[in-house]
This record gives sequence, structure tokens and C-alpha cells, in this order.
Amino acid sequence: MRKGVHVAEPTERDATVEKGQAEAVAREVFGTRLGFILAAVGSAVGLGNMWRFPYAVADGGGAAFVVLYILMTLLVGIPVMLAEFTVGRGARLSPIGALARAGGRGWKPLGYVFVLAGLLILSYYSVIAGWTVRYGIEGILSGFPANPGNHFQQISTGMPAIVYHVTFMLVTISIVMVGVEKGIERAALVLMPALFLILIGLGLWASRLGGAGEGYAFYLQPSFGELLDPQVLQAAGAQAFFSLSLGMGAMLTFASYLSRDDDLPQEGTIIAFSDFGVAFLAGLVVFPVIFALGLSGEVGQSTVGALFISLPGAFVEMGAVGRVVGVLFFLALTVGALTSAISLLEVVTASLIDEFAVRRKAAAVTAGLLVTLMGFVPALSLDLLGVVDKVAGELLLVLGGFGICVLVGWKMKDAAAELRRGASPAFAAVGEKALVMVKWVAPVILLYVIYFTLTATVQLLRDTFGG
Ligand code: TRP
Repeated sequence: MRKGVHVAEPTERDATVEKGQAEAVAREVFGTRLGFILAAVGSAVGLGNMWRFPYAVADGGGAAFVVLYILMTLLVGIPVMLAEFTVGRGARLSPIGALARAGGRGWKPLGYVFVLAGLLILSYYSVIAGWTVRYGIEGILSGFPANPGNHFQQISTGMPAIVYHVTFMLVTISIVMVGVEKGIERAALVLMPALFLILIGLGLWASRLGGAGEGYAFYLQPSFGELLDPQVLQAAGAQAFFSLSLGMGAMLTFASYLSRDDDLPQEGTIIAFSDFGVAFLAGLVVFPVIFALGLSGEVGQSTVGALFISLPGAFVEMGAVGRVVGVLFFLALTVGALTSAISLLEVVTASLIDEFAVRRKAAAVTAGLLVTLMGFVPALSLDLLGVVDKVAGELLLVLGGFGICVLVGWKMKDAAAELRRGASPAFAAVGEKALVMVKWVAPVILLYVIYFTLTATVQLLRDTFGG
């Protein structure tokens, strides 16, 4: 069966190379392989790993969720990431043009959906990032709040939220303005290693806490009933897409800045495993802290604010050490959020550059200001924020992922050749398997996930707007 669905022949190679070289003249590129990898890991690693993952785990019954999440990453996540890479590097264009290049003009609308998803996701992502920045600054200046529940209520919406959201967007815009190599790549090369070091340090520290054993147990012992729960599977699938930055062309856009000879299957594997590693490590920090102070009930409520209430609460109780650790935690979270926000803004910026011939600086400022204004809506209420997260951060992504699978698995002619180019023999085999998944397995799983994401979205809309 594996051999039978081998899609493309090596002869298609030459045509694609010529096409690519014609485009290559003016396009920006990443300076180094490591720069690309860290920029893509920077996109993947963010609030999704340290804020969303732990509460998704708590909500999904602990380790059962973790098991499903790993399966989703392997069966759907890595294949879709490689599919996005293939389309992006093949076309050397941002999503709208790249989808048209791979599948014909009829695919352009999906590109516009990607851009819309980018705008929507960044609009609330930046609000949450703003809370993070604020907690970090407060931790340094005055320590964490004694009554974190109240505090969160006061700062998470309205003017206080908007001020930090705008500040965070200004920083994001200023990096994207500078360009791919000097802005995005350079930021990732500095920020990502810093984030890894901080998190590893925090993980070691957390392992010596009193509640560590209990926290690990909750996190790592599967209860098998939940493995079969469609809601948990839905959450795991959507979380994998969000965390890996898939389904809206972020990875596609980054891959469009690659030279022809990167080993895409290898780099995709490194990126996905790094992303999982960071999420896993974040769990190893968060759960011991929470169990050390008996706060597990609060996270289980799975509100967007859980992490911003229970963790600072724990940091306060831990005194001076808690303050230092807490500042480091929110610093790492801010760094992760920034490199992710950069990738979201880059999708919109690159689309303005490629489709409307806008210059980079003007494109980044236009896209950034639009997102800044849009963010005022989720900054109004946590309910609205939750709705945008569900619609754009889950539903649009799994729908987009399905579209990418159909395009690359069934429509794009030179996908196999493009993915194989530059790959070592071992990883060329990985790429081949991934394409089989893209064609046969991922779309089926995604249809299932889409169905349950849709019902969850409708449910949330009803709960929120009372229909
Ligand atoms: N993956 C990032 C995180 O985990 C968020 C993110 C960045 C993202 N770019 C994306 C999510 C594109 C979906 C699509 O925090």
C-alpha cells in the first residue's frame, strides 16, 4: 500500500526548479538553516504551549489528552506541516498566490481565509500576550497580586487590556517591518535559546516541589475512558493545529523564504518535536506548582484565565523565590508569544506585499494597525475572546488543514518531488509517508475533528450569546 500511492515521478523535478528560479530574484530569504528552524519553532512555541496546553490537558482528563495529542501531532500535524512547507517553498509566495500556484485560481479563496484567520487569531492572541507582559512587569516592580482572581478580572478586559495589547502589537510590528532575515530571523536566534534555557531551569526547579509527584501523576497517567471521548479527541486535534501554527499558512509563508535545498521533512520533524518538547516541559512546570498548592480545581475549570489566576497565586505563596520564578515564567511566555505573533503578522504582511505590491514597511504597519484595532473586540470581554479563539483558533484552522490536505494530497502535481528535493534518503522516506498520510489519513481524522469542533463552536456561541 505504501508503494502503491507513490504520487509523483522524478521527471517533474526540472519543471519546478525552473519555475522557482524565475521567482527567486527579489524574494527575501532566511540567512541560515538554523534561522529558519528557530523562526518556525518560534512560531510554533508560544501561548499555545504554555497557556493553552496545560489547561487543555487539565480539561481533557490529564494524560489521556497527552496521548491523543501525541497521536494527532504524528498522524496529522507533521504531515500537514510538510504539506504547507511543500506549497510554500514550491511557489515562493505567500498563501494566496501559493495556493493558486499549487492548485489553480480556484484555490485563492482559501488563501484569503488564511489571511482572515491570521488577523483574527493575532487580534486576541495579542490581548493575552498583553496580560503576560503586564504580569511580568508587575512581578518585577511590585510582586504578584495577593488576590489574583480579582486582579485578573480587573486587568484582563477594557482599558488595561487594551494598553498592553497595543504595546505588544507595536513591538511585533516593529520586528516584522525590518524583514525576514534582519527582523524575524535575528529575533528568533536570540529569543528562542533564551526561552529554552528559562523553561529547562523552571522544570528542574519544579521537580523539587512538594506537589511534584501528584502533579506528574495527574499529567502522565492516562485514564483510558477519556481516550475514546470525541470531545477530548477534538480538543487534542485543534490544540495540535494551534500549537504547531498550522492551517492558516504561517508555516507555508516561512517556507516560501527558503532556498531550494533545505531538507523539509527533517526540519519539519525537528520543529514539531521541539514544539511538543516545550509544551511537555511547560506541563512539567505548571502541574507541580499547581498541585504543590492544591489549586488543581481552578485549572480544571478551563477558563481562559485559569493560568493567569492559579499560577500567580502559587507564586505569591512561595514568597521571594516564587517572585523570581514567576517573573522568569512570564518572561518566557512573553518571548514565546512575541515570536508567534511575528509569524501571524508575517502572513498578513507577506500577502499585502505579494498580492498588492505594497512595500514591506507599509504592509507591516497596515496589517499591524488593523490587528490592533480588531483586538479591541476580544479585549472587551473574556467571553468574546473565547468565541474568537474557538472560531479562528480552532475551527478555521482545522478547516484550513483539511483544505491543505486535499490540495497537496489530491491536486498538486509536483508535491512529492518538491518535498523530496534536498531531503536526505532517510527523511525523503519520512516525507513519502507524510504524503500518504496527507492523502488518506489526515483528511479522514480531520473530518471527524471538524465535525466535533463545529458542534463545540455552535455550543459556545449558544452559551455566549444565549440563542
Ligand atoms: N503556535 C503558536 C502558539 O502555540 C500560535 C500561532 C502562531 C499560531 N502562528 C500561528 C496558531 C498560526 C495558529 C496558526 O502559541
